[in-house]
Amino acid sequence: MIDTKKYIFTSDRLGFRNWTSTDIDKMHEINSDEEVMEFFPGIPTKQQTIEFVERMKKQFEDIGFCYFAVDILEDNEFIGFIGLSIQTFEADFTPCIDIGWRIKSSEWNKGLATEGAKKCIDYALNDLKFEKIYSIAPKINTKSEHIMTKIGMKKQYEFEHSLLTNNDQLKNCVLYKTETK
Ligand SMILES: CC(C)(COP(=O)(O)OP(=O)(O)OC[C@H]1O[C@@H](n2cnc3c(N)ncnc32)[C@H](O)[C@@H]1OP(=O)(O)O)[C@@H](O)C(=O)NCCC(=O)NCCS
Repeated sequence: MIDTKKYIFTSDRLGFRNWTSTDIDKMHEINSDEEVMEFFPGIPTKQQTIEFVERMKKQFEDIGFCYFAVDILEDNEFIGFIGLSIQTFEADFTPCIDIGWRIKSSEWNKGLATEGAKKCIDYALNDLKFEKIYSIAPKINTKSEHIMTKIGMKKQYEFEHSLLTNNDQLKNCVLYKTETK
């Protein structure tokens, strides 16, 4: 029996919820996978993962959205995050709300990120009443960019990420956006 009560919202296969301390070890395991972190500047420490989980949990409590913890509904297995956050790094389009995703590699290529991201966009536009949502990825993360196109976001432009100027591999980023109208 699927316990949907513990979820803020669900999609066909996924449940979206706030974070708990029991997610920390599993998120740290995901963050420690070099394949998952291929397009990030480094592998987060356990302390950084703890701080991330605490920050997301508080953000949800304070403003009602975060990069949601995501479970597979069938077996309640935690697989990572898909959701909404606030970006404040220096750029023409910030501060803004963005959509982001990170899923454990054993679950890749089953359509889960696409399904979950579509549901989050739907929740953001229809329930939270946001007018627009952005998504950002290093240009070389073609898989992430492909998810953006698959969920109907439109490419705006390419830009140099102000926090990654010293990283030649990652500094060139793509900006995507969705709008209600
Ligand atoms: C990006 C990520 C969330 C995608 O998750 P996923 O559940 O495997 O995504 P889906 O199964 O919904 O879709 C995968 C799509 O990418 C395609 N794909 C696979 N490898 C690809 C590549 N190297 N380049 C472009 N597309 C690729 C698949 O063919 C599929 O598209 P299709 O349905 O049109 O065939 C997952 O790979 C991940 O967690 N990556 C690490 C974290 C990350 O990079 N986050 C984004 C930071 S900007």
